[in-house]
Amino acid sequence: MDTTKVAIIGLGTVGTGVAHLLLDEGDRLARHAGRRLSLKKVVVQDLKKPRDVQLPRELLTADLAEVTDDPEITAVVQLVGGLEPARSIMNRLLESGKDVVTANKALLAQHGPELFDRARQLGRSIAFDAAVAGGIPIVTNISQCLSANQIQSLHGILNGTCNFVISQMDDSGASYEAAVAEAQRRGYAEADPTMDVDGSDAAQKLAILVHLAFGARVHWQDIPREGIDQLQTADLQFARELGYRIKLLAVAQLVAEGLELHVAPQLVRNDSPLAEVRDAYNAIRVVGDAVGRVWFHGLGAGRMPTASAVVADLIDTVVGRAAITFRTLELWSQRPARVTPRDYANVSSRYYLRFDVVDHPGVLAEITGILGGNDISIASVIQHEASESSEQLVSLVVMTHTTTDGAIRKAAGEINALDAVQAPTMVLRVLD
Ligand SMILES: NC(=O)c1ccc[n+]([C@@H]2O[C@H](COP(=O)([O-])OP(=O)(O)OC[C@H]3O[C@@H](n4cnc5c(N)ncnc54)[C@H](OP(=O)(O)O)[C@@H]3O)[C@@H](O)[C@H]2O)c1
Repeated sequence: MDTTKVAIIGLGTVGTGVAHLLLDEGDRLARHAGRRLSLKKVVVQDLKKPRDVQLPRELLTADLAEVTDDPEITAVVQLVGGLEPARSIMNRLLESGKDVVTANKALLAQHGPELFDRARQLGRSIAFDAAVAGGIPIVTNISQCLSANQIQSLHGILNGTCNFVISQMDDSGASYEAAVAEAQRRGYAEADPTMDVDGSDAAQKLAILVHLAFGARVHWQDIPREGIDQLQTADLQFARELGYRIKLLAVAQLVAEGLELHVAPQLVRNDSPLAEVRDAYNAIRVVGDAVGRVWFHGLGAGRMPTASAVVADLIDTVVGRAAITFRTLELWSQRPARVTPRDYANVSSRYYLRFDVVDHPGVLAEITGILGGNDISIASVIQHEASESSEQLVSLVVMTHTTTDGAIRKAAGEINALDAVQAPTMVLRVLD
């Protein structure tokens, strides 16, 4: 059997999982690849750091040139996170003739077009299934298995940290702060979880998926996004009372006017499979015009789930399938964008609104008057009696009929200016 020499750059969480599979499951991988994958070098930053994988000493190096200058190594897994030096490392690998597999979504969301162009000029491929939803093979499914379809919509729970935090708040009534601390304790959230909880991470993944699914080139920073950091445990309880759960959703939906795109916490019906996605799991619902609804569910992060996607990409790379997929992607990229995002203010939905108000006569009338003045009609209202400890502060929850985002934001601004309103209105879209 032939052998292909491969290398890994970065031996952290994912790199360790990839090394385990290459070293311990060589026979199985060889059966799938039709050739042996031989790990020749692993590049790290700190040679003295203890590792969770037993590596022959001569494999480990801190010198990238031992990979780039070695013509025997043809495929490289690049698992250094962030933008720099990851971007420079990618360029050096491509320029030295290596095909690359990466899980670095932040890099692809920021510099993907430039890196893809460079790879194309050099006749190389970049495979990146692990960059979106970790172990769920969503990139391959959208770009290959569903290619007979015009994708109509994508609804994804793409950030496991946020899903874990929301699940903790929902299941145990924990506060947002306590749930984030628990996510950090279990290793799901970074010491600085900002990019997760403010929706940026999900927007980066959505930007990659909408390029593949719709041929739309959208920078992730242009995707309207809200995070989960303003959610209160009370919102999850009110949502349950109304027959819903709250999830951070990344949404892309094709409508006559273009593509509706956003990342935001939303109410999803209790009986929707999205409502059942718990803890650090991810899920994506894809609707294609031929296939209808297809669901994907699994772990979106973690050592072995992510390594599963990386190694599958590595096998695709050494057998030549990744090059075919990559060429198709490049043809797709060079066409004019097929769809463009529509103005978010015109996007319509039902909405959940929570107002924290001083409980005095006429407040409800003032709020409903403003909603009516903005052509927003009310589907239902919840108001619980004030508890003694809350000193006459009550939460008032309104579910609206379908209206536009623009109308809701305008009404919320007017309501926030009322004397009786003690905190900015919580506005959440409803996915029916
Ligand atoms: N963790 C997940 O569950 C997950 C899921 C999906 C995607 N991803 C993505 O996968 C990538 C890797 O994530 P990770 O969690 O494995 O990261 P990590 O645990 O922080 O590991 C990063 C590795 O990169 C090495 N490194 C950093 N700078 C380097 C340099 N200049 N030269 C050589 N090596 C260098 C580090 O070396 P030392 O060990 O010597 O410090 C470390 O081994 C990231 O882009 C991440 O977003 C991760």
